[in-house]
Amino acid sequence: MTNAIGDTATFDRMARFYDWLAPSPAADELREALGFAQRPVERVLDVGGGTGRGASALGAAERIVVDAAPGMVRQARRNGFEAVRADAAGLPFAAGSVDAVVIVDALHHFGDPDAALREAARVLRPGGVVVIREVDPTTLVGRLAAGGEHLYGFDSTFFEPRSLARRVADAGLDARFRTDGFEYAVVGRTPGES
Ligand SMILES: C[S@@+](CC[C@H](N)C(=O)[O-])C[C@H]1O[C@@H](n2cnc3c(N)ncnc32)[C@H](O)[C@@H]1O
Repeated sequence: MTNAIGDTATFDRMARFYDWLAPSPAADELREALGFAQRPVERVLDVGGGTGRGASALGAAERIVVDAAPGMVRQARRNGFEAVRADAAGLPFAAGSVDAVVIVDALHHFGDPDAALREAARVLRPGGVVVIREVDPTTLVGRLAAGGEHLYGFDSTFFEPRSLARRVADAGLDARFRTDGFEYAVVGRTPGES
């Protein structure tokens, strides 16, 4: 189901049950990707973070879940996270105020993914990273997942790894990607302090 800020209405309704349905986060991959940062990773935003599944995999001292669905924000708070309701395309955080942004299985739901990437780049401190985990629509499982989401009524837009890395570079970040079966991660880093 589509609204002005992405597929949030359905997530709002499923928030109570989401943790029963979602698989465990790819903790090792997320932590390894955060290692691309050129600064200590202490303050992290989990954008499109839902109930905090991605945040739960991170060891950072301060983990803040940002989501557009009020039900998800409430559930993230029940799970013990600081959580803020906001559109990924308009983060209520100051420029250069966080060490990392993670976007796990969520970018394809955002109404304006390029604006979300620019926002992620804006809030990062020098040497900070954005890590995006996504499904690769060129793989068989990826095609099935994308087809399933569209059948369900989601307005999802899936990107190939190279195409998403280009978009992250267009947001002003040093980007690279790594595929992992039908999933992949793109990591983008802001220039460090000179
Ligand atoms: C598939 S869930 C993933 C949640 C979490 N990252 C995880 O891995 O479990 C996608 C999430 O993106 C959120 N979302 C969709 N559009 C959004 C937007 N424009 N801004 C912020 N969150 C959004 C939904 O409400 C939902 O919680």
